[in-house]
Amino acid sequence: MPRKIAAGNWKMNGLRADLEQARAIAAGATDGVHAVLCPPATLLAVASDLSGLATGGQTCHPAAKGAHTGDLSAAMLADAGASYCIVGHSERRADHGESDADVAAQARAAHDAGLTAILCIGETLDQREAGDTLAILEAQLNGSLPDGAHAGNTVIAYEPVWAIGTGKVASPDQVAEVHDALRGWIVDVVPDGADMALLYGGSVKASNAAELFALTNVDGALVGGASLTADDFLPIVRALAAA
Ligand code: 13P
Repeated sequence: MPRKIAAGNWKMNGLRADLEQARAIAAGATDGVHAVLCPPATLLAVASDLSGLATGGQTCHPAAKGAHTGDLSAAMLADAGASYCIVGHSERRADHGESDADVAAQARAAHDAGLTAILCIGETLDQREAGDTLAILEAQLNGSLPDGAHAGNTVIAYEPVWAIGTGKVASPDQVAEVHDALRGWIVDVVPDGADMALLYGGSVKASNAAELFALTNVDGALVGGASLTADDFLPIVRALAAA
C-alpha cells in the first residue's frame, strides 16, 4: 500500500516569523501520515531541523553544480536537510517555460541526490473543456517521468491548473477518473507502480479533504494555501490519517 503523504507547498511565501507555523505543524504531525513541508529555500535548513517534519525543495536545477546564478542543485537541497523535491509544478512550467524534458532532468537530478521527486502534472481548463484531460496527462507523465523512477523515489501529484489557488476543487468524480487512470499508467511503466503514492493538489482544505482521501487511488495531497498555517494544515493531515 502506498504511503500516506500530506505535503505543504509554501511557494513564495514565508519569512522567519512564519517558522512558528512550521513548528506547530511539526508538533501536530500524526502517526501514519508522512507530513512534508516545502518552504522557500531560505527557510529549508531551519525547517529541516524540526523533528516530526520531512522537508522538500520546490524545484531544483538539473545539473549537479556549476555556473547557474540563482539556481539550487538537488544536492544543495539534500545538504540543507530536504528529503523531497517538487518538480514540474505548473507555476514553474508556466512562469519558467519548463518542458516535460526539463522536468524529467530535474527529477533525475533529485534522484541522484537521494531525494524523492514529487512530480506534478495537470491540465488547463481549456484542455479539460476540449475533452483532452487524460491524453494531456498521460503525455505529461510519460515525458516527465525519468528512467529509474520507482515507488521509493517518486511521488506523482495531479494538480489541475484550473483548481490551483482558485478555490475550485476538482470534484471527487473528476479526481477519481484521473487517479484511476494514473494508477493504470504507472503500473504499466514502473515495476512497483502499485506502491507509488498519488497525491491530489488544487484548493485542498479541511472541508473537502476527507471526500478526496476516501478515493481508492488518492494517497494524500499537495497543499498550497492551506499549508501556510497549522490551523488549516493539521486538519488535512488528520483527515488523511483517518482515511
Ligand atoms: P492551492 O492549495 O493553494 O490551490 O495550491 C495547490 C498547489 O499548487 C500545491 O502545489
